[in-house]
Amino acid sequence: MNSKLLTVVLVMIGMIIINWNLFRVACANNIWSHWNETYVPLPEPTCSIDVPCQRGMCRNGICTAYPGYAGNLNHISVQSVYFRHDPYDQLAVRPLDLQGWFNTNDEFWKRMVVLSQPRLAIEVGVWKGRSTAVIATELKTQMAGGLVLAVDTFTGAPEFWTNDNDPERGLEIVNGWPTVIWTFMSNMKQLGLAEYVVPLPLPSLQAAIWVRKHDLWIDLIHIDGAHEYQMLLLDIQAWWPMVRVGGVMVGDDYDLEHWPEVVKVVNEFQAWTKLELHVDGVKWYFIKPNSRSQFVSTRSFI
Ligand SMILES: C[S@@+](CC[C@H](N)C(=O)[O-])C[C@H]1O[C@@H](n2cnc3c(N)ncnc32)[C@H](O)[C@@H]1O
Repeated sequence: MNSKLLTVVLVMIGMIIINWNLFRVACANNIWSHWNETYVPLPEPTCSIDVPCQRGMCRNGICTAYPGYAGNLNHISVQSVYFRHDPYDQLAVRPLDLQGWFNTNDEFWKRMVVLSQPRLAIEVGVWKGRSTAVIATELKTQMAGGLVLAVDTFTGAPEFWTNDNDPERGLEIVNGWPTVIWTFMSNMKQLGLAEYVVPLPLPSLQAAIWVRKHDLWIDLIHIDGAHEYQMLLLDIQAWWPMVRVGGVMVGDDYDLEHWPEVVKVVNEFQAWTKLELHVDGVKWYFIKPNSRSQFVSTRSFI
């Protein structure tokens, strides 16, 4: 090989290496590129007259769950969180107070329940339970059973700690510690929904790890916790892989004017996954498709 040809070949190899590195840097700058997931088609336990359900009733070929029990796929109930302790036992009842930011009408949740047939519903960010109550009521009336896992620190988000005069964000602080959780639980009890609603007072990501450790599959999840870009990004990345095929992830505040960071994350998630984004008022939602061959490896980063 003459020296001219050798120089050309070396320059070309050099260019390939430089471009490859530039490509890698570009990918590393895309925050979504570190996240992948597998869509595992789940063996949905079906039922019929010949194959009855072990627990719950057979409806349209699938087993319903008993009240307070998350169904055949997810063997959890209130005892899974609290063991022998009953969190509602001897709860001091407070005046019914359903103050919240729940912008959607009941029709929306009726449709979500028809769509996802939830036996396990999870709400991240419940506050005093305004939206939890609607979801749990639909479980009770449409599904005649099931469980809502109500995930919240009950200590508010940053904006709850910056404005002393905001009556909507009063944390009911006693000796330095917010007591909103007892307003939430009291509300559930008074509405006759305590049997269906289990509070899980953990930060969202720790709750996601709890759900992962119990190997649960989520039928319906409502994300309404932290609204900051980084926090919501982690919420979606942690929770979405645990939504079962056919399940639904709903979120609040798809509202460019008031919550631009929510819109940014949701749009990025859509662009990265190429899933169909549904928007209904300020609600956004995605339905877990049957299979996605481009996603391989782990179920989640947690
Ligand atoms: C907008 S409120 C939820 C409103 C509620 N869905 C309703 O309909 O009224 C947000 C809630 O998310 C909770 N929250 C914020 N960040 C959280 C996090 N990282 N983990 C768990 N809960 C969180 C707050 O404590 C607060 O109760």
